[in-house]
Amino acid sequence: MKKMTMENALGALTLAALVAVGMPAAAAWAEPQQPTEQRFAWKDGAEVYTKVCALCHETKVGPPLRGRDLDPTYIRLVVRHGSRAMPAFRESEIDDQSLEKLAEYISKTPAHQ
Ligand code: HEC
Repeated sequence: MKKMTMENALGALTLAALVAVGMPAAAAWAEPQQPTEQRFAWKDGAEVYTKVCALCHETKVGPPLRGRDLDPTYIRLVVRHGSRAMPAFRESEIDDQSLEKLAEYISKTPAHQ
């Protein structure tokens, strides 16, 4: 999503630069850019699981998580604080809302899906 926005912003800039041919170059680059303050956000719990947790937890580096009816509160705690070989993840990496969805997802999803 963010990548698309960046591409759009670049496209808009290129277009602005083309349209502005004949104007001083500085003016072309002074064109307002698309706002980029939109924060990165995970789509849902399944996305975080597949793109982060699965790297270890589907490859036998870490123990299996799904299909064990693990308590979502326990999952959130382990993710935030780590546990021995399990790394901790900060809010800037997995925001609170995504972590909540992730914990629900892991807790409720059967092992093979
Ligand atoms: C770099 C590899 C790695 C990644 C990435 C990783 N884990 Fe882990 N995780 C581990 C390892 C290794 C353990 C076992 C820790 C130990 O007991 O030494 C573990 C343990 C856990 C446990 C405790 C399991 C139990 O049986 O009590 C939970 C819960 C957990 N991880 C959740 C997650 C979640 C959720 C994610 C994704 C945000 C994640 N982990 C990403 C390596 C990883």
